[in-house]
Amino acid sequence: MIVEELKALQHQFGYLPADQLRALAQKIEVPVTRLHQVASFFPHFRLAPPPKCNVLVCRDMSCHLLGGDKLRMNTEKRFHGARETDLTIRGVSCLGQCDHPLAVSVNDRIYADVDEAQLEEMIRGVLATGELKEPFARYEQVQCKSDPYHGLERYAAVRALVESRDWDSALAALKASGRLYPAKLARRKVSGRPWETTSSQDRPIQIRSTPPKIALCQ
Ligand code: FES
Repeated sequence: MIVEELKALQHQFGYLPADQLRALAQKIEVPVTRLHQVASFFPHFRLAPPPKCNVLVCRDMSCHLLGGDKLRMNTEKRFHGARETDLTIRGVSCLGQCDHPLAVSVNDRIYADVDEAQLEEMIRGVLATGELKEPFARYEQVQCKSDPYHGLERYAAVRALVESRDWDSALAALKASGRLYPAKLARRKVSGRPWETTSSQDRPIQIRSTPPKIALCQ
């Protein structure tokens, strides 16, 4: 809940202004120190206005192996002397593009397969015009024989659920598919589906009027 409120604030202001944090603390009846703890824990949140160009270079395994550190350091050297209000360049955890390193985020847009020249061009473009180019043309999707959804619509159950909001039907469809039953539980011959067990539990802790949410780790 706190994260969602902070995301909404940052979306509105571009960062988390101190007076807005105080107002939020009053609104949701949480100490402002708690909001600050959450905001400073996640690198996504900013407590100061963002620079014109905010660059994050992935430093996790795939990108690291392909030279993510070198890309970041060389880019820092190229823009040495730039003011912090214009440009910041930092490392960041995986950007979800591990199959196409190197990955960077520029002003919250994610680019894969980036090289030094492309990153420099993007930064210069943002600093000069404020404009950010579209992510580079994406690669063709590779068809894998192991893909169980080949030729089928993806995320059909989720799409149907978003339309209908009919949770019981969605869970029934998952159950009927037999695909999402955790192998570990199957080996242990656990009967019933985890969501059935979980959703039927009494919930002694409920935060204000927040609707109950069930998260299942597969
Ligand atoms: S390791 Fe770089 S995007 Fe995942």
